[in-house]
Amino acid sequence: MEDLLKNLVKNNQAKSKLGEVANYIPELDKAKKDALGICIYDINGNEYCAGDCEEKFTIQSISKIITLMLAILDNGEEYVFSKVGMEPTGDPFNSIKKLETSSRKRPYNPMINAGAIAVSSMIKGKDAREKFQRLLDFVRKISEDDTLDVNYKIYCGESETGNRNRAMGYFLKSQNIIEGNVEDALDVYFKQCSIEATAKNLARIGLFLARGGKTSTGEQVINPRIATIVKTLMVTCGMYDSSGEFAVRVGIPSKSGVGGGIVSVVPGKMGIGVFGPSLDKRGNSVAGVAVLEELSKELSLTIF
Ligand code: DON
Repeated sequence: MEDLLKNLVKNNQAKSKLGEVANYIPELDKAKKDALGICIYDINGNEYCAGDCEEKFTIQSISKIITLMLAILDNGEEYVFSKVGMEPTGDPFNSIKKLETSSRKRPYNPMINAGAIAVSSMIKGKDAREKFQRLLDFVRKISEDDTLDVNYKIYCGESETGNRNRAMGYFLKSQNIIEGNVEDALDVYFKQCSIEATAKNLARIGLFLARGGKTSTGEQVINPRIATIVKTLMVTCGMYDSSGEFAVRVGIPSKSGVGGGIVSVVPGKMGIGVFGPSLDKRGNSVAGVAVLEELSKELSLTIF
């Protein structure tokens, strides 16, 4: 397996030239463009890694699946999906247009920014600090890594440049989709995007979902139903407006972030973490997607 992963990294590293590192937030552009790493944890606890698996990056939109799990734990499935839909949009992740024009009058799904900000507003806690601390404790638990933390330089950049997200937050408040304090919701959202992790951490989170919400100690942290909801939304909306093509080419529930990470879940089999900061036009890692496509073919991992 390790040889296979090494070859995948070698074969696909040059594809990073086809994309660009995200630069719309200060500091994100510091990433090394041709970095590429993949890590797999299988259900029997074996670990396989190749390339830049220990390199830290911010999880960005991958945090949306983590917040969704905690929001459902805190509020129940019915409440969460009364405020946010389950349908793909086919629009970019930061699109604002369907928010007002659609007859649904709520964000289409929890993986676009509008839906994710609404979900962040549902995390319980007396103030933004407590809400985020609960989220950080939750991600540390499911990744089985107590050292995970926020990159404060990136967080400041998110907050300073996040006016489009702010606009969506205030619109959601006007529609009563956000019931609490908007600034708290935005602060949790900016911080969750700025959590730093490695491909290894992502593989652990993938394995947690592959096991239906259990850690390696056997603790059932979330009900398997929540894990199923999250994996399903990863298939339909996890790779933004490339989700359909990704499902055909790779066929593994996955979630990407503009920091270059992708977390993938092969249910009942393995968790996969990939890092490659050079992104395509939709915000997905160019070389990372290529590695996953080859891996899926080699090991027949498509779930379809
Ligand atoms: O601009 C934002 O909202 C980001 N910090 C998160 C975006 C993200 O990762 C979208 N991804 N592919």
